[in-house]
Formats: sequence, C-alpha cells, structure tokens
Amino acid sequence: MCGIVGYIGEKEALPLLVDGLKRLEYRGYDSAGVAILGEELKVVKTVGRIKDLENRLNGTELKGQLGIAHTRWATHGAPNDINAHPHYSESKNIVVVHNGIIENYLELKKMLTKEGKTFRTETDTEVIAYLIEEFYEGNLLKAVQKAVSLLEGSYALAILSKDEPNHFVAVRKDSPLIGGIGKGENFVASDIPAVLPYTKDIIIFENGDIVDIFKDKIVIYDKMLNVIKRPIHKVDWNITDAQKCGFKHFMLKEIFEEPDVIKEAMRGRIKNGRIEIPELDLDEHFLKEINQVYFVACGTAYHAGLVGKYLVEKYLGIPAQAEVASEFRYRAPIIDERSLVFVVSQSGETADTLAGLRLAKEKGAKAIGIVNVVGSSVAREVDKVIYIHAGPEIAVASTKAYVAQVEVIALSILHLAKILEKLDSAREQKLVDEFLKLSDYAKEVLDNKEEIASFVSTTKNIEETFFIGRNLDFAVSLEGALKLKEIAYVHAEGYPAGELKHGPLALITPNSLTIAVDTYTPLSDKTISNIKEVKARGGKVLAIAKKDNERIKDVADAVFYISPVLDDLSPIVTVIPLQLFAYYMADARGLDIDKPRNLAKSVTVE
Ligand code: AGP
Repeated sequence: MCGIVGYIGEKEALPLLVDGLKRLEYRGYDSAGVAILGEELKVVKTVGRIKDLENRLNGTELKGQLGIAHTRWATHGAPNDINAHPHYSESKNIVVVHNGIIENYLELKKMLTKEGKTFRTETDTEVIAYLIEEFYEGNLLKAVQKAVSLLEGSYALAILSKDEPNHFVAVRKDSPLIGGIGKGENFVASDIPAVLPYTKDIIIFENGDIVDIFKDKIVIYDKMLNVIKRPIHKVDWNITDAQKCGFKHFMLKEIFEEPDVIKEAMRGRIKNGRIEIPELDLDEHFLKEINQVYFVACGTAYHAGLVGKYLVEKYLGIPAQAEVASEFRYRAPIIDERSLVFVVSQSGETADTLAGLRLAKEKGAKAIGIVNVVGSSVAREVDKVIYIHAGPEIAVASTKAYVAQVEVIALSILHLAKILEKLDSAREQKLVDEFLKLSDYAKEVLDNKEEIASFVSTTKNIEETFFIGRNLDFAVSLEGALKLKEIAYVHAEGYPAGELKHGPLALITPNSLTIAVDTYTPLSDKTISNIKEVKARGGKVLAIAKKDNERIKDVADAVFYISPVLDDLSPIVTVIPLQLFAYYMADARGLDIDKPRNLAKSVTVE
C-alpha cells in the first residue's frame, strides 16, 4: 500500500505534490519520488521518507505545472532508490506511480522480455509503464485503457507522457483513488487529506474508472472509454482536521478528539430519547429470521467487533462470532442468506476485510459496513453502510475510530433489539441516558491523563505486559495490548483474566506488568482474585476500575478510576486510559508514534 498524488494546473507542481505526499505518508513510508513534466520530464526518487526526498530535491531544478508523486510501502522489490516510484517506461517517455499489486506481472514481464525489453527494477509497477508504452500510438488515454485491460490485481495509477503535456491519466481498480477539483487546477490522490488545502470538491472514483485530468476539467470514462459521471462530494473536513492542532503527535490529538467523536457518532441516531439508526432499514422478515451474526474485521476493528459479539448474544439472543478477516476468508464459514455480517473497517480498504465481505456476500448474507472513510470500497460493496463519523484518522494506531466503531455497533444492535421486540422502552431510555454521558466520561479520563503519564514514568523499562479482564473487559484488554505492541514495541498479551492460571501465570515475575481492567460489575470479584494471583507471584498491577470499586485499591499497585459507566458500554471509556498508557510508553521511549516501524495505516494488500 502506498500513496499517490497527481497535479495539473497553473502553479508549480513540485511543492503541491510534496505537500500532498506528507499528508499521505501514513499509507507507507519506505521510499518516495516525484515526476515533473516541464520543458523536460524529470524524475527524482529516493529510499526513505518524504523528508529524504526533500533533501534529495534540494538544489535540483524541477519546474513544471504537471506532475505525479508517490510514497511507497514495498510489496515487490526491496525498499531502495531503484524500486522507488515513479517508474519510467523503457524509452523514458512515460512515467507511472502505482498503489496496489499486479498479480500477473511476472507473466507480463516474461512476455515483454521475450520482445526484447530490458527492465530496470524488481517492481510489478514497471511492467505497467512498459505495457502502456507498448500500446502508445500518440494517445495516452487509449494506451492506458489497453494496458490496464491486461492487468490482474489491484491498482490506483497516475500516468503521464512526455509527449502530452496538457493532461495526465489515472485509473482505479481495488485501490483507493479520489479526484480534487480546483480552480484552474485538478488533483488525484489516494486519499482526501492530500488535496484538502486546495479544494473541498471531491470525486470518489469507482473500480474500472479511467480518468483524464486536465487543468480545467476531469473526464471520467468506463473501461470501454464511454464518458461517465460521478458525483462531486463537498467534504466538510477542514484542513486543520487533518493536521496536528498543536498536539505532539496525531495519535494524541486523535485520542483527545474522542469526547467529540462520541457525540458525532450518535448524532441523528439518538433522538427524543430513542435509538434509531436510519441506515439500518433492513427488511423485517429478514431480521426475524437471522440465524447468525458475524463481525468480520482486522486489528483494532476486529476488537470492536468482539464487543459486538458479546452485545448481540446479550441483547439479540442470536449466535454471534467475531472473526479475524484473514482467517475467515479462507475458511468455510457457516453463512447463508439468513446471516447478518457486520464488516468493520476504519479505512474501508483493508484487503482481508474486503475479501471477507465478498465471501459473505457470495454466500448470500446481508452485509452491513461500519466504516469511517466515506465512499471507500467496503462502504460501496456492503448492502447498508453506517458511517462512524470519526473524521480522518492519521496516526497508524487506531484510537478514535475504535471508540466510534464500538459505539455505532452498540447502537446498531440496540436498534435491532427494538425491532425484534427484545428491548423495552424503559431499558432503552436507561441506555440512552448512559450514551449521553459517555462524552463527559471520556473527557474526565483525558483530564486525568497525568495519572497515566506518571504511572508510565515508573514502568517505562518494563518488557513483559499482560492486559487482563473478563467479558467486555477482556475484549478491551486485547485492544490495550495491541496498542502497546504497535507503538511502544513492548511485548503485550491480552488475556481473559480467568485463563491466566492455565499458562501465562508462569511468566509473571517482578519484571512484568499486568494491566487489569475491572469494570464488568458481575465478575469484578473474580477479576480481583486474578489480580491477587498476579500479586502473589510478585507481578506489578495497574487496575482500571470504576469509582465505586473500593476493594481494588487494596490489591493493585495503582488504580486509574473512571466514571461509573454502564457495563455494556464500558469499552468506549476504558479503552482511553489504555490508549494513553501505550502513547506515554512510546513517548517515554522516544519512538516514532504516528508511524510505527513495519506498519502502515491502510493495509490494502494481503
Ligand atoms: C490499529 O491500531 C491498527 N493499525 C490496525 O490493526 C487496523 O485496525 C487494521 O489494519 C484494520 O484497519 P481498518 O479498520 O482500516 O480496516
């Protein structure tokens, strides 16, 4: 997965492209490059991040009002200068940037090699540039159309030709691509933040779109080069949404947005004391016949789905599973037209999640997307989409999206419970009252962030951590452990508290830290017993508990108290101290929090 940007207009392209790349760097950051068409066609690229590209550009004359650029996360070929994009065609008349994977590139490469072509890189992308040149007869658009008809795999491409300085071409299949319409200038990019400073008029391209971009128009074609229309969306994010707003890292900024995100996610969904998800207008007959509910997702989104599983069992009384999409897609899950599948994804572009969705649909299930990015692939392929409205999430570590996912999942399940007459209005009113308090509860956690920061200062060298809990506290423990691994590079395991004694207890030593989440009231005493087991082996314990939990003070080394949130909604609040804990641990270790090593924000390849 990578980020691409393309520009044509009246201004110098280079600064706009580099600026766009910076806001796409979350998509991958092992190499970067730019191609500018001015009097000549020039490419500058390097292994490393955008700042390394800027260093390399220093002192280079790169003038022109048309260009394409790329930030890479390697899939084919090591991250190095040669494999960095853009890639030239054989004659160097055509250049290409690409996000995705060409599955048949070896076959194509063999075919072109037989014809006498010599390749310069190990990438799959270079084959595309060579193919386009192969078909080029003075019309870039037609050459691109012919070339992409031979490609198997996923791609968002931007292509320019030395001989056609008044436009460039872009194509999309299974990798995200948007267009930005400016005044006397136009853009394409992998994601909206890249173009936000310049325009709020966005086109979301669909699979198969071939796009011809001029400075005064964008023309969209289907595969047969028939002109087609796509709607223009006014994006209400302003540019500051996509910047750090004075926070040291995007991750911290995004955690601090959570009280607002909680309100946004319920906007229009709680009205006059009633829960109502208008998007979830499923056929009542189907609802009554549902035999299974699945949550299919990856990473943090999977952890949000796990909360959904518990709530479906409790409120709907229907068998429910949370499934890691990369496993689910290769199993033979028991799904039919009576199954309801929630597909949870912040980006809406995660390859495994999309494959899980397609499998579920093939088997006849109804698919509901719980998605952040508007117009993303998941959003377009599900039967119904419910947006979480968390705004752009830039940090690789997902925080505010988790909070909003859990909230929207909970609201959706309660909406269904009402239709199925499993939630009476008194209980609904009680739940609504609790939803309305969540934002303040979240804010209170953030107001007490120093408590977490100071606890971290006493444990920052710890290398072995366990996150334990029962019921929904277990689900949120998994997310706490993932956050710590991901950004602080500390080994962390999320475990059901009751399961510790079946193995992991052997790892508890005075050098270990256990974070015990104890907010699930019916099982609090049992969790306290588990904490005692850890303490008896010399382990250090930080507990996250509700204010009325007096007993825990006597067993844990430290307690972070949260407001008395309703058990069933507790993950929305308890995750916040866990996110802060991971953040402060990573910060204490001086790590690159927003871009942790080896990871990328949007995992659009398998
Ligand atoms: C979370 O912090 C991760 N970076 C990762 O697990 C993420 O949640 C996962 O890749 C799924 O992404 P999605 O929500 O965009 O589908």
